[in-house]
Amino acid sequence: MDGETAFRRKYGEYVSIINNALDDCVPTDDKPGSEICNAMKYSLAAGGKRLRPVLALAVCDMLRGSRNDVLPYACAIEMIHTYSLIHDDLPAMDNDDYRRGMPSNHRVFGEAMAILAGDALLNRAYEVMVSHIMRKEEDLSAYVRAMHVIAAGAGVEGMIRGQTLDISYQGLGLSEETLEYMHRCKTGALIRAAVLAGACIGRASEAEYKALDQYAENIGLAFQIKDDIMDVEGSLDRMGKMTGKDAASGKNTYVSVYGLEKAAQLLDRSVSAAVEALECFGEEAGFLRDLALFIRDRDN
Ligand code: IPE
Ligand code: IPE
Ligand code: MG
Ligand code: MG
Ligand code: MG
Repeated sequence: MDGETAFRRKYGEYVSIINNALDDCVPTDDKPGSEICNAMKYSLAAGGKRLRPVLALAVCDMLRGSRNDVLPYACAIEMIHTYSLIHDDLPAMDNDDYRRGMPSNHRVFGEAMAILAGDALLNRAYEVMVSHIMRKEEDLSAYVRAMHVIAAGAGVEGMIRGQTLDISYQGLGLSEETLEYMHRCKTGALIRAAVLAGACIGRASEAEYKALDQYAENIGLAFQIKDDIMDVEGSLDRMGKMTGKDAASGKNTYVSVYGLEKAAQLLDRSVSAAVEALECFGEEAGFLRDLALFIRDRDN
């Protein structure tokens, strides 16, 4: 088996584990109002790359941590990510009609229900994490730290700050520094949280945690730079979402600020820095190394 096939196979294995676990995260009942569960499941089951939960699992695996213990955090992160996409697509934000190859949540369930489905996924994420913690009798600090890192990444100093900048500067220019800060927050923060949650549950040493943080910061930024590039180079068919919209809606992106060629160089630079940060793990970090290259080379 060549390296790329081995990587894809392992990635696929992680995705099946995550999809099975996510299935159990949202209730199915026939009580009045259960349509909210359908709206939640619609976006969650629509697929997507599952990059963030794959990262949490892979980091924990590399550190020989417990799969069962990291899974609730991986699911929580994917629920938070999915909520962020539902809200990101709303007419008040990016006004996007397609997501994960399907009509976006508000197109199917209406705006009010899409707002609620996002809210419900966000809250469910914390229910899933806290329920896991409540079942534990050992020292809880690693579990609480993992939850804190996720809350911080999703919150006012993380993803929400980035989304705020994205909206506030729409149609206006911004400096290179603010652009980088925006990208690190709006997309980097949750990706970083996924890596660090895996590190907490895998009981990383201080040095391992620092190295993984460097890796996470760099792939987080790289991921959004690539997303900006794919908005220009990708297609609805491949991406499962509309492309070519950033320029039309006055979004500040690495392409609008630097142009395609420089954006690709900066992407490459972040990916190389991510790979370098893994050096201390040697062979064990093979999958995470391939994942950084996948972020650079992906076409979906
Ligand atoms: C899309 O994220 C939104 C960004 C942060 C750029 P992904 O590209 O990970 O979306 P899915 O989960 O695969 O649909
Ligand atoms: C979204 O960035 C980041 C989120 C936190 C959801 P984009 O608005 O560029 O993501 P896409 O291109 O719609 O997936
Ligand atoms: Mg957006
Ligand atoms: Mg968007
Ligand atoms: Mg985008």
